[in-house]
Amino acid sequence: MAISEGRRVNRRTCLAGMAAAGVAFSLPGSASAQTSSQRLSMPPLLDATKSRRFSLRAQAGETNFLNRSASNTFGFNQAYLGPVIRVTHGETEATVENALNRPVSTHWHGLLIPGEVDGGPHQPVLAGETWRVTLPIMQPSATAWYHSHIHEQTAEQVHAGLAGVLQITDGRDDERGLPSTYGTDDLTLVVQDRRFDRRGRMTYSRGMHESMVGFLGDTVVVNGQIGSVAVVPAGIVRLRLLNGSNARVYRFSMASGRELHMVATDAGLLPAPLALKDITLAPGERIEILVDFSGTDADSLLSASVSNTPMMGGMMGGGGGSFDVQKFEVDPGLIPRIATLPTGIGEALPDLDPTGAVQRQFTLDMGMGGGMMGRRGGGFSINGQPFDMSHINVAAKRGQTELWQVSAPMMMHPFHVHGTRFQVLSENGQPSAAQNRGWKDTVLIDGQAELLMRFDQPAPNHAPYMYHCHILEHEDAGMMGQFSVS
Ligand code: C2O
Ligand code: CU
Ligand code: CU
Repeated sequence: MAISEGRRVNRRTCLAGMAAAGVAFSLPGSASAQTSSQRLSMPPLLDATKSRRFSLRAQAGETNFLNRSASNTFGFNQAYLGPVIRVTHGETEATVENALNRPVSTHWHGLLIPGEVDGGPHQPVLAGETWRVTLPIMQPSATAWYHSHIHEQTAEQVHAGLAGVLQITDGRDDERGLPSTYGTDDLTLVVQDRRFDRRGRMTYSRGMHESMVGFLGDTVVVNGQIGSVAVVPAGIVRLRLLNGSNARVYRFSMASGRELHMVATDAGLLPAPLALKDITLAPGERIEILVDFSGTDADSLLSASVSNTPMMGGMMGGGGGSFDVQKFEVDPGLIPRIATLPTGIGEALPDLDPTGAVQRQFTLDMGMGGGMMGRRGGGFSINGQPFDMSHINVAAKRGQTELWQVSAPMMMHPFHVHGTRFQVLSENGQPSAAQNRGWKDTVLIDGQAELLMRFDQPAPNHAPYMYHCHILEHEDAGMMGQFSVS
């Protein structure tokens, strides 16, 4: 899919060039006041750092994205998406009630916790039931997330809204000089792409094209809002970005050319801010960046159109054109709490020792023979084995370092491993890209990468961890495996 010359459109944030994918390309209404003036709101904050407990309720609701017809959506504690849950070290009790008419689960993507409480496909919460677990949280500060993870239903359920952000905090951001005022200088942005029908209702479909490349929308939705404006102080603002899309890969930059100062990757903070012109974010990945909004009154977070199809051979780049993801307006009345970039944050880069690591190879297969279009097991597999709930693919040992060599021969696949955080040791035989040097739990494999990791938590055969492609249609179709840790 060659994404054609992008055009940035005002007011409504539309992805350019979707016509090439056979998707109706919705043009903006001239001045749809309802969307242009709307201020970006944050998900509600569920702070469990003191109470050490939180409750989620998976429920159905209606969301009116375009101020036309309402869409049927799912959410946790609200109509669409869920709260930002803030947790700290120690044991936290989580309660998940399922008020929907189908099984759901809540996988804590990025939490380093035992397989028994991981919330994957082996821990469904049946309709009407409640799941209570204790999460033993011991890991460093990070922006994680949670989402439903029912085998063959993940794509549809996450698309409908069963996802939210989870912050692990140690309360020391002031010492580090990092902004931490929720919704003011510390913003959470859940970035998704969606499609809407003529009446403005969100639609999901999985035809042949979506089965192959994953679901791609033509409209950017941030925190469930379209075309909103984030109001920020004229200082340092922290953006916690989650790519909560089913399949779209973003490459973010600022319209002004202002640098993105990366301070955290998926699984933790960096030693110091790393200035980058652009950062690629694949489904499932998170990144924390600082943007300096001093000396301007407005700016925009853009994304390039990144194409990712088997026909393109999974090449990074291509496409051309960009689209607005989030507009920002500086409010001079807001006093910036942090005016200068921190020089050091003080966290360590991954430093696992590869000596004596157990080596494993994983090839993400799409089966380019006729079966690739199939919805189930049609060639989507890892090492030729489509996901099978009753088969443990890998038996790992607790405390043992492992070196996973992952290859994606057909197109780029975001590879995620549960129950650990890893170091990207190399990409295509070269040192890993600057943006991948911190701790990760999901990484976009563009060719081949070596991941170094260790499993410190147990995962018995009846509650194994998953590893999979985070293009949700690929995961559901079988590009997933499971492993035990004993
Ligand atoms: Cu975010 Cu196994 O998933
Ligand atoms: Cu996960
Ligand atoms: Cu994939």
